[in-house]
Amino acid sequence: MESNAKNARNILCIGAGYVGGPTMAMIAARCPQYKVTVVDINASRISAWNSDNLPIYEPGLLGVVKEARGRNLFFSTDVEAAIKEADIIFVSVNTPTKTFGGGAGKAADLQYWEKTARMIVRVSTADKIIVEKSTLPVRTAAAMSRILNANDKGIRFEVLSNPEFLAEGTAVADMQNPDRVLIGAQGTPAGIKALDAIVEIYANWVERDKIITSNVWSAELSKLVANAFLAQRISSINSISVLCEKTEADVAEVSRAIGMDSRIGSRFLSSSVGFGGSCFQKDILNLVYIAESYGLDEVARYWESVVLMNNYQKRRFVSNMISTMFNTVADKRIAVFGFAFKADTGDTRESPAIDVVKQLIEERARVVITDPEALDNAKIDLAGCLDKVEMLSDPYAAAQGAHAIAICTEWQQYRELDYKKIFDSMEKPAFIFDGRNVLDHKKLFDMGFNVFSIGKPALKHF
Ligand code: NAD
Ligand code: UGA
Repeated sequence: MESNAKNARNILCIGAGYVGGPTMAMIAARCPQYKVTVVDINASRISAWNSDNLPIYEPGLLGVVKEARGRNLFFSTDVEAAIKEADIIFVSVNTPTKTFGGGAGKAADLQYWEKTARMIVRVSTADKIIVEKSTLPVRTAAAMSRILNANDKGIRFEVLSNPEFLAEGTAVADMQNPDRVLIGAQGTPAGIKALDAIVEIYANWVERDKIITSNVWSAELSKLVANAFLAQRISSINSISVLCEKTEADVAEVSRAIGMDSRIGSRFLSSSVGFGGSCFQKDILNLVYIAESYGLDEVARYWESVVLMNNYQKRRFVSNMISTMFNTVADKRIAVFGFAFKADTGDTRESPAIDVVKQLIEERARVVITDPEALDNAKIDLAGCLDKVEMLSDPYAAAQGAHAIAICTEWQQYRELDYKKIFDSMEKPAFIFDGRNVLDHKKLFDMGFNVFSIGKPALKHF
């Protein structure tokens, strides 16, 4: 520790969510020479970070938190005191899609962001490095710098962009061994000095050639573009899944065949009921809005189609269910297996299951939801219609007496259930709609199920 003492700095992160909490825990665990404080206005979130019952479900995260908590990692609600003390401030507040006024439904809502900037400038008494960790529209750093540096205290703030690329469910591995860390800074002497300070943090555990630097605008834009490209692959394969269903081609076979082309690559080609998560849709719509605001209509329409295809895929999943089940699901019990937007997380933000369940409720189905981690969030998402759904943590109980099962999340445990036992407890004919293509369809068909998956020929007994 002593040899690093000259570099010792106080790091603060504002925003203790899915990004702020895990990323700062990793920095603290790998860099004991820094004091890392994470603050949030949400007191219950902070007390959960201070307990063994963390506010987010993320495999392996508790171990990382425990390595550093109380040593050089602190969670607090005292935002002002922490700002005063900090040399480097990461800002990781939420940047949801704007729901009001100009740009509603597309642009990023930057109110939390700007409030944070104004708080920093009000409270600070010395120069600081400000790092954008949240995902932001390109050129936000310019506005941030203007707000921060319009102070009459003679304090200078250097604003950098260090977007986060971790995925939920694999956050610990993604942070421990990232494909790259991207840091954008201005090419001025002050910008380069600040850049070096951030590189120095990551260099404690990330190989130097994976820490890449760029100008601020490239870093901001790269984050939006990375998410847009990932989502575009899913929408592309989902568009092909419909064609497969019409032609008796199998989308998994198509994915494998094209994915073995090293120029295409095999990842993010799993066809599904649709992508979810807090960021893909939000970030693409943000990109669309930015393109529109520069008058680039063709660019905007191109990226918007990725979201439109995803909406189509979610709608089509439910309309297939209805037409298959003799054109009505009214009063039929339907078990929805999985509510999280992907496996290994309790997060349900923009989960395709939300749309699926809401459409089924509109069709007056009796919906039963099961999920190992996401039922608390499901209750919040479905607050307006809780009288119309049942939630059970046991999938066997959820399926009992059901006409159909709809797989919406690819939890490993759903692959391992005793489907013979489930089949015996269901109404007949029994249907399975595998929105994630994770089950053994032939085996289920042989048990007596009618099996419908995404982009594969249906297996039915009638
Ligand atoms: P989140 O909603 O889980 O967390 C944000 C936190 O910021 C909340 O706890 C909120 O209370 C807090 N906050 C808001 N205003 C504040 C203020 N003025 N002072 C103190 N705290 C404040 O959001 P998240 O999922 O962590 O995402 C944060 C950012 O990171 C977003 O821009 C998102 O696009 C981006 N991102 C998210 C992920 C992900 O996997 N969730 C991955 C990469 C990037
Ligand atoms: C995504 C990106 O992968 C991260 O790099 C990024 O940091 C993050 O968004 C963010 O900015 O928030 P995340 O949303 O956590 O991470 O999860 P993904 O693994 O990307 O999955 C997103 C959605 O796509 C899930 O609903 C998933 O089930 C779906 N998906 C993924 C598919 O339908 N098919 C696939 O082949 C892959």
